[in-house]
Amino acid sequence: QRLSATVLFIFGGSGDLNLRKLTPALYNLTIDNYLPEQFAVVGLGRSDYTDETFRERLLEGVRQFSRRKDDLDVTWDRFAPKISYLQMDAGNENAYGKLADYVSARQTEWGMHANVIFYLAVAPQLVPGIATNLGNLPLCGDKQNVRIVVEKPFGHDLKTARELNALLGGLFAEEQIYRIDHYLGKETVQNILALRFANSLFEPIWNRRYIDYVQITASETVGLEGRGGYYEGSGALRDMIQNHLLQVLCMVATEAPVNFDANEVRNKKVDVLHAIRRIRPEQVNDMAVRGQYGPGPINGEERPGYRQEEGVKPDSATETFAAIKLYVDNWRWENVPFYLRTGKSLPEKTTVIKIKFKAAPDFAFPDEATKTWKSNRLSIGIQPAMDIRLRIQAKRPGQTLALDPVEMVFSYKTEYAGQEPEAYETLLLDVMTGDATLFMRADQVEAAWQVVTPILDAWAAEPPADFPNYAPGSWGPQAADELVGKDGFRWETK
Ligand code: BG6
Repeated sequence: QRLSATVLFIFGGSGDLNLRKLTPALYNLTIDNYLPEQFAVVGLGRSDYTDETFRERLLEGVRQFSRRKDDLDVTWDRFAPKISYLQMDAGNENAYGKLADYVSARQTEWGMHANVIFYLAVAPQLVPGIATNLGNLPLCGDKQNVRIVVEKPFGHDLKTARELNALLGGLFAEEQIYRIDHYLGKETVQNILALRFANSLFEPIWNRRYIDYVQITASETVGLEGRGGYYEGSGALRDMIQNHLLQVLCMVATEAPVNFDANEVRNKKVDVLHAIRRIRPEQVNDMAVRGQYGPGPINGEERPGYRQEEGVKPDSATETFAAIKLYVDNWRWENVPFYLRTGKSLPEKTTVIKIKFKAAPDFAFPDEATKTWKSNRLSIGIQPAMDIRLRIQAKRPGQTLALDPVEMVFSYKTEYAGQEPEAYETLLLDVMTGDATLFMRADQVEAAWQVVTPILDAWAAEPPADFPNYAPGSWGPQAADELVGKDGFRWETK
């Protein structure tokens, strides 16, 4: 879709998100010729930059973080003039008039009406104030052409998420609000719907009659990366599960949408969240495990324990690892466990979905042949491996009847030469075209908080007795293995 004239304001312009993700994404969209001729991006912040020094800083970001740097000089020269910087104190309501002035000036220069996007790449406590000041600008009454983008965390719990939704809802129409969950912008996450609903092979067996369980793992080797101030008040359940992993679960569990309208797709996903069985307080210990890493080496590098990181309390109860078990109570999924796990300082950076199918009857095969038997399993590699692998049994060549599990593989790298857009490219383009399919609607966010609330409450009420309880480079506390082990399963990453 051809984009119309656009002014994109980025609050937190000199911050990390813009440097690492937003500007590299815009740069890549420039290479791919997606941005219209009439495009302006304005960094907003309190720091003192000129347009020139601001551009230089962003160029560094592109050098370091862009997935492509082809023809950097040429493309940068094409993109840089579209960038400017406005110094402003976002807390000062009188400063907002200059945003409206800026838009008018561009519209006069271009001789046309422009879409206006306000991207709030700022700390969550600043969001209500900025949104209120923006909402009071007459230009924000233009429901068609003015949009606001809000980053996670979206609330700290159900109550604060509701408050934030109420606040934003009082200032903007829901169609103007784009709540980002960057996992939904990942190619491999979007491909789940294609895999399931553009093929006739999987859907008939995609249910409780054929599936034993679903596991979703998002592991990271990194520790805190200097984000103690934020993470200490968040923890793994809020940081990764409430948003990213529950959204991935929705993609796996959703019914087929009737069409790809934003609201149709989101309605179907909300249905999944509503169907998730509420965990009762007395069940929390059976359904959820938390962990925190201690000091130790990871990949040969000595790491401080979480409690020794900057911005972290020496007796912190914040979890850096969480594993939970959920059930989706509907006809398709009754009693199929969904295991979700995530953590920092784990052995590898991997996000992967494992769907294990029930075993085929093996009585016809000699005992010897069934020793290596492994039932069918579909692995969906989200990152860094972007692939889909279907494990099947094959007869090992030779005169004896022996079986081996082998895999049929579709890999993005071999099929598409590894040129997939980054999540933020897709998401920024969607905001600009006004497609909200991959963004969280107010009710989606609240439904997701509802799922994790009983766990958060139980954990807050009972500080952990055994923290730190896992070593860096391990797969988390032993209790996480027991969570699946007591159901007769194991965590699967390979
Ligand atoms: C962010 C979390 O939302 O996602 C981080 O706040 C986490 O803690 C990151 O590291 C992981 O994203 P990705 O795309 O690298 O898996």
